[in-house]
Amino acid sequence: MCKPTYYRVEYSINPWMNPSENPVDRTLAMYQWNSLRLAIETAGAIIDVMEPHGGEHLPDMVFAANAAIIRGKKAYLANFQCVERKNERHFYKKWLQAHGYETFGSMDYAFEGEGDARWVGRNQSKLVCGVGARTDARIISDLKDKMKTESQDFKAIALKLVDPRFYHLETCFCPLAEDLALWYPDAFDSVAQHNLKQEMEMVPISEADATKFACDAVVVGKNVILNKGADDTGKTLQRLGFIPNFVDLSEFIKGGGSSKNLALTLTM
Ligand code: ARG
Repeated sequence: MCKPTYYRVEYSINPWMNPSENPVDRTLAMYQWNSLRLAIETAGAIIDVMEPHGGEHLPDMVFAANAAIIRGKKAYLANFQCVERKNERHFYKKWLQAHGYETFGSMDYAFEGEGDARWVGRNQSKLVCGVGARTDARIISDLKDKMKTESQDFKAIALKLVDPRFYHLETCFCPLAEDLALWYPDAFDSVAQHNLKQEMEMVPISEADATKFACDAVVVGKNVILNKGADDTGKTLQRLGFIPNFVDLSEFIKGGGSSKNLALTLTM
């Protein structure tokens, strides 16, 4: 996770961001970020904290999940579509290298890290990718090439995102287990909806909960840490044998992100 020291909504690169009408309360943002960190740690995960770089020039750096997609000790870096975020790559690359990750990446096509790519299946046998909004589908062949290992290839499944409110895969798709996920189906085109249902058991959530960022959740074992207010999704999770843990992330919703987007998944 990257500290929200410089986080604010200064520009608008998604429909949630409204700098003039909905400014961020930075003190509250820091409090909420610490609450999220504590909730993830209490659920049993270890958090590495990165100090933000670029100062006031990189206010979105707090959304660490956009930095890269990780597999073992390999990191495939983002090539941010939005000019406002392009310089984050350099700092994340340095951090990942300093922490023992071999970094890859291409500057040919846009790719926004774990924001648009999630591992599913046994031993990460499948990579679900959201394309058409922030990530260009043409990145996938290089990503596959660099991230496969000698012992294990994986299948990449590209899914077209069609609703501007759900511009990253993480905002509308939440893997709960190897073959089980929450999703907001209307965020995907009909081909993507069909294809995803072939791969795993998909549990839909309502539009009301999707707009509370219920899919943008951190899952640690059976614990699901999500923005407060998505009560129906909480009940769904309980029915599925999971434990919902609500954290107020109102200040980050103003930037178009929530729980999962504030934490990049690393492997030890
Ligand atoms: N303001 C950031 C952006 O638009 C927020 C990213 C949040 N991403 C997410 N998957 N929820 O890039």
